[in-house]
Order: sequence, then structure tokens, then C-alpha cells
Amino acid sequence: RTNNLKMEGSSNLRLENCRAKGGSPGFKVAILGAAGGIGQPLAMLMKMNPLVSVLHLYDVVNTPGVTADISHMDTGAVVRGFLGQQQLEDALTGMDLVIIPAGVPRKPGMTRDDLFNINAGIVRTLCEGISKCCPKAIVNLISNPVNSTVPIAAEVFKKAGTYDPRRLLGVTMLDVVRANTFVAEVLGLDPRDIDVPVVGGHAGVTILPLLSQVKPPCSFTQQETEYLTSRIQNGGTEVVEAKAGAGSATLSMAYAAVKFADACLRALRGDAGVIECAFVSSQVTELPFFASRVRLGRNGVEEIYPLGPLNEYESWLGKGKERVGWKH
Ligand code: NAD
Ligand code: LMR
Repeated sequence: RTNNLKMEGSSNLRLENCRAKGGSPGFKVAILGAAGGIGQPLAMLMKMNPLVSVLHLYDVVNTPGVTADISHMDTGAVVRGFLGQQQLEDALTGMDLVIIPAGVPRKPGMTRDDLFNINAGIVRTLCEGISKCCPKAIVNLISNPVNSTVPIAAEVFKKAGTYDPRRLLGVTMLDVVRANTFVAEVLGLDPRDIDVPVVGGHAGVTILPLLSQVKPPCSFTQQETEYLTSRIQNGGTEVVEAKAGAGSATLSMAYAAVKFADACLRALRGDAGVIECAFVSSQVTELPFFASRVRLGRNGVEEIYPLGPLNEYESWLGKGKERVGWKH
């Protein structure tokens, strides 16, 4: 068995070297929480991404099985598994992009804030590892409450002296994915042709879909606007309730995470005009972190766009935190 493992290890390295010589653009990506509900489909989809040359799967449970399974896919990325905190540093060393879906999900009746105590500690430990082993990596943070875990990650990086606000991105892509889907349903169009900017945060009233800025330009009745806004803001709760105690969105989240990670990798490669919404350190409003449309580049966030003209309803929505409190 030891010999087998050695052979697997060396052929893995030969494979990696051989692909590197082939000159294909390849990035090293780690998924932390890779054995979870999001982590597993995310790992599968990242294994299918031609921009990924090395995929590290880290979790505190079950990574040997997930890694063995995914490594049999006949796609380019070399997959390695890492189990438990003693292997965290190996999992992170040399990574270009780190995606973090580690942490507990909601059950019906809970807010994302209820996850804070457990997930803040998990995110802190993982970010300490990133500071030490791959301080220049782009970090895509999925663990909830995103409105709080991103500021916590920033503090960890500041303490370690590695903080670069351009490289820390809270993933709000699922809000955009949902908004595109629901708007397309109302308009009777293909969701792939719709682009809805969603700004603010990633919880309830902090999620602000800018329906006046949908591309292609379109208009909605007040009833449609209120229906869409409420459905987008409560999309997470809709899934939590439908899953009835078995967790929150995993498959649509893995899809959204891969869409976002792919944008980050294309930007790292040097592609121009890569623009997505993300929850980042910001001066767009008085809040220190805010989701906006951002232009991604080789260093992460290269430019944060202003909100653009808001209509009366969106301005009123934007005062949500004063109306009902800034909930996570
Ligand atoms: P899950 O419980 O199915 O999986 C979480 C995984 O994290 C598990 O495999 C667990 O072992 C692992 N984990 C726990 N502690 C860890 C640690 N210290 N280091 C590494 N891994 C650790 O949960 P899930 O459904 O995959 O959701 C994960 C998180 O993502 C939750 O906090 C959830 O609220 C959040 N989420 C965010 C969004 C978003 O839009 N940003 C969407 C959906 C879910
Ligand atoms: C979502 O929006 O689906 C996630 O934030 C998970 C949740 O708890 O709603």
C-alpha cells in the first residue's frame, strides 16, 4: 500500500511537470471545505476548468474519498487531497487562488448571523494559514455570514501584515445568478442573456438588486419590482426551507462559485474587461465593505465601480439597514 501511494505520488508529479512543459496556462487552486455540500460539486467543476493545473482539496473530514473520486476524471488538473489541520500548510503552499466554503450552513429558522460564532473561528484559522503559505493568493470567501467573515479575514491578514484588499473577495455571485434567473423568468427571456447588478451585502435587506440597471435594458411594473426584489433577497431562505434541515444552497452555490473563480482566473491570466459583483473593501458608501461591480485583473480587484443612478425604489431599499437594522 505504501508503495502504491509512492507510485501515485510520483506519477502525479510527472503528470504535473509534463503539463507545465506543455505551456498550457494553469493556475494552482485550493478549496478549503472541499468535502462539504458546496465543496464537492465545486471541486468537481474546478477539475473541469481548463485554467486549473493543480487542484488541492482540503477539509477536516473525508478528503481522501473525495480526492480519489475526483482524481479519476480525465481532465487536465492534477488533484491532491489534504486532511486535517496538520496538512493545511501543505494544502496552501504555492496556491494562486483559494476558495473557502468551509463552515456550517443554516437550518430553517436561523439567520446567517447565527453561524457567526463557529464560522468566524474556522475562517480565522484558514486565513492564518493563507497569510503564512500563500499571502499573494486571491481569496474567494463563501462561508457565511459573508458580511462578517470578510471583515474578519481582513483583520487576520492585517494582523499578519499580509493584507491586500484587492485580493480578498466575498462571493456574492449566487445573488447575481438568482437575480438573472428570476428576472429572465419574468421577462420570458434566456437567463444567459440577462445581467443584473446586485450590490450591498449578502443577507436579506442588505442584498440590493439594481433592477433599473439590468442589461439588456428593460422595465418592470412596481408589482414585478417588489416580487423580484423580495425573491432575490430571500433566495437563500427559500432553499433552506425547501431543504427542511438538510442545509442551504450547495449546487447553485457551487455553480456560482465556479463562475466567479473562473472570472478571477481569467483576470489572473491577463484577460481584459472581466467585471463581476463581489463583496470587497470599499469606499463606494460609508460602509467599509460593500458588494459592487468590480473589474478584476492580475492583482484581484483593479477597480470598483460606483453604484450608478438609482431609482426612487432602489434608494429607499438602500436605506434598509436604517429601516430594519443591518442584519447578516
Ligand atoms: P457543509 O456543512 O455541507 O460543508 C462544510 C464543510 O466545511 C464540511 O465538509 C466541513 O467538514 C468543513 N469544515 C468545517 N470546519 C472546517 C475547517 N476548520 N477547515 C476546513 N473545513 C472545515 O456546508 P455547505 O452547505 O457546504 O456550506 C458551507 C458554508 O457556505 C456555510 O457557511 C454556508 O452558509 C455558506 N454558503 C454561502 C453562500 C454564499 O452565497 N456566499 C451560499 C451558500 C452557502
Ligand atoms: C444563500 O444565499 O443561499 C447562502 O447564503 C446560504 C444561506 O444560508 O442562505
